[in-house]
Amino acid sequence: MQIGGWDALWTNANIATMDLAAGEDGVPYGALNDAAIAVHDGAIAWIGSMTELTEPFHRLAAEVHDIPGRWITPGLIDCHTHIVYGGNRAAEFEMRLEGATYEEIARAGGGIRSTVTATREASEEDLFRSAASRVRHLLAEGVTTLEIKSGYGLDTKTEIAMLRTARRIGRELPVTVRTSFLGAHALPSEFDGREDAYIEFVCDESLPAAVSEGLVDAVDGFCEGIAFSPQQMARVFDKARELEVPVKLHAEQLSDLKGAVMAASYDAMSADHLEYLEEDGVRAMAASGTVAVLLPGAFYFLREAKLPPLDLLRQFGVPIAVATDCNPGSSPVTSILMTLNMACTLFRMTPEEALAGITCNAAKALGLTDRGVLRIGARADFAIWNIERPGELSYRIGFNPLEHVAIAGKVSNP
Ligand code: NIG
Ligand code: FE
Repeated sequence: MQIGGWDALWTNANIATMDLAAGEDGVPYGALNDAAIAVHDGAIAWIGSMTELTEPFHRLAAEVHDIPGRWITPGLIDCHTHIVYGGNRAAEFEMRLEGATYEEIARAGGGIRSTVTATREASEEDLFRSAASRVRHLLAEGVTTLEIKSGYGLDTKTEIAMLRTARRIGRELPVTVRTSFLGAHALPSEFDGREDAYIEFVCDESLPAAVSEGLVDAVDGFCEGIAFSPQQMARVFDKARELEVPVKLHAEQLSDLKGAVMAASYDAMSADHLEYLEEDGVRAMAASGTVAVLLPGAFYFLREAKLPPLDLLRQFGVPIAVATDCNPGSSPVTSILMTLNMACTLFRMTPEEALAGITCNAAKALGLTDRGVLRIGARADFAIWNIERPGELSYRIGFNPLEHVAIAGKVSNP
C-alpha cells in the first residue's frame, strides 16, 4: 500500500476500527494504538501504526490533524428513528405517569394517531425545521448516518411529505439519511374498523406512490396487537418484494406475535424492539441474517420490565444493533450517547457490544457495506473523541466528549 499523496491524515490517535472479525484473536474494539488514518477521495486510504510513517507528515497529506491520545471511532449510525413528526406527546407522558398504559392511550385514539393529526396539520417547512433541530443534537454526538421513517402521515400525501423531508435533511445537513416507508404504522381514523382495507390501500396506493417518487430505501411496519398482524404485514412485504425494496419490522415490542419469524422469512434487514422475542424468533433471525435492533430508549420511557433476550441473541450469533428510536410517543430521545449508556445499564450489554450496535451492526441493519467499520476502502466517516478508553462513551451521562467528525474525509464541527 502506497504511503502518502493523501488528502488528509490524522496522527497519534487510538483507533477503534470496530473491525471485529479481524479482532477475533481478542483485540477489543478492533483497536489500534499509536495509530494514524489517512483519507483520499472521501475514502479511507490507509490505516496503521505511527511507526510505519516517516516525518514530516505534511509531505504525506495536504492536511494533517495531530490528535495525540484521542480516540477515533467510525461515524455513529442511528439505524431506527421517527425523527420527522408534528407536535409532541408530553400530555400523554403525564397520563402514563398517572397510570395509563401506552396501549390504553393508543386504543383510546391517542398515541400514534395524535401525532398523525399533528403531522398532517404541519407544513413541510415546519416538519423540516423541527426535525432538523432534533437531528442536530444527534450530529453533535458524532452521528454521521441516520435512518428516518415515515408513518405519521398514513395518507399518501403526508407519508410522501415526511419522506421528502427526511431526504431534505440528508441534503442540507452533514449526514447520510436512509428512508423507511412505515405506512403500516397504525390504522388511520378514516379506516376505522377496516384494517384490511387500509392494508390494501398501503399496498395499492401509498407504498407504490412513495416508491415511484424514489423516496423509499426500505419498507417497515408495526406488528402488534395495537397495530397490524403478521398476516397483514406479510401482504405489505409481498408488495415490497414485488417493488424490490428490502423490509424490516417493529416486532415483539409489547407481545410475541411471531412477527420476527415472519420478517425473517422475507429476509428482513432487521427486526426491531424484540423485548418479547422467543427462541423461535432468534433462530429464524440467525438463519436469515436479520439484525436485532434494540431500542433501550423506548424500553426506558415506557417503563418496560421485560428485557430482550440478549443471551439467546448472543448464543445464536444474531448481530445486535442499538438505536434511539427517536419519536414523540415511546422514545423522545435525541442522544445516541445516552442510548449507549442505557444499552449497558438496562440491557447489560458490554460497552463494546453497545458501540458495535451503533457502528458495524447498525450499518448491517441498514444494508450499508461501505461504513460502520474503519478499514481501507470504507467511506471516511469517523468521529474523534477526547476520551482515554472507548468505554467512556457509554459511561458518562449528559457529557459529550466529541471533538470533531470527518464526513467522507472532510472535517465537520457539529
Ligand atoms: O418504535 N412501536 C411503534 N412505533 C414507535 C412509537 C411510535 C409512537 O408512539 O409514536 C416505536 O416505539
Ligand atoms: Fe420505532
